[in-house]
Amino acid sequence: MKKFLIALVMAALPLAASAAGSKGHLDHMDVDLHNQASLQRGMKTFVNYCMGCHSAEYQRYERAAVDLGMNPELVAEHMIFGDQKVGEQMTIAMSKADAGKWFGNPPPDLTLEARLRGPDWLYTYLRSFYADDSRPWGVNNAVFKDVGMPNVLGPLQGVVTANCSWDDMHAHGMRGEGIDPLTNTPLNNCASVEKGTGELSPEEFDKVVYDLVNFMVYMGEPSKLDSHRIGTYVLIFLFLFFFLAYALKKEFWKDVH
Ligand code: HEC
Repeated sequence: MKKFLIALVMAALPLAASAAGSKGHLDHMDVDLHNQASLQRGMKTFVNYCMGCHSAEYQRYERAAVDLGMNPELVAEHMIFGDQKVGEQMTIAMSKADAGKWFGNPPPDLTLEARLRGPDWLYTYLRSFYADDSRPWGVNNAVFKDVGMPNVLGPLQGVVTANCSWDDMHAHGMRGEGIDPLTNTPLNNCASVEKGTGELSPEEFDKVVYDLVNFMVYMGEPSKLDSHRIGTYVLIFLFLFFFLAYALKKEFWKDVH
């Protein structure tokens, strides 16, 4: 009996672990690595808004330029702000030690972040900052409690006021999903953007974040674009080869009755 109980506890452990790591409510986004324009816009947002603090050490500017159909010279001119060359990695000048002092936690490298957290988490995280005067940067985040990162996209989104507790927003999202069938009203209204404080409409802002996360997914797995391209050629080859093989078979068997 004792052994059985121990086995039961052991079996339940992974459940407890996954409950502790609960991601809460996440908004879904459909990644589209074939949308080059979106990836290009995402890269522009990334170098402009994120690389002040985050590096992408495993990504080279030139590789991204080529993969996303951009001229490397133009990328060097418009997307590199330091004295780096286009063939170099997307590193930054801020040292991890300084950053740790300033922010509490240093901003991690983001090359593989989309693989670590997943696109839905990133898409929700970047849209889930809200005003909270008790925090050092004046903001908190509904998927990352007491986050050490300021809301760098705030000027685009505007000031977000939260009307629910953190737990509620974490569990059900800030905007809520769908319509309550009984009252015919949106399921929750946990957050509102103060009018006139953001440069973009909520839809436009969502699109900026969508493009940014799309780019981060590309960055996490740059060879995926190659695999898709090669996959297409392989299918075309197999299709043509089928006819060749069929013709050959007919030729070989034509005298056999
Ligand atoms: C002013 C500096 C700064 C800028 C600019 C900045 N971040 Fe951050 N970011 C941080 C810090 C500091 C943390 C660590 C927060 C913590 O652990 O509490 C962080 C954490 C993150 C995390 C969570 C990492 C993890 O898995 O724990 C993500 C994702 C992220 N940032 C994405 C971005 C993106 C995308 C941009 C550009 C839109 C950006 N950041 C711009 C400072 C910054």
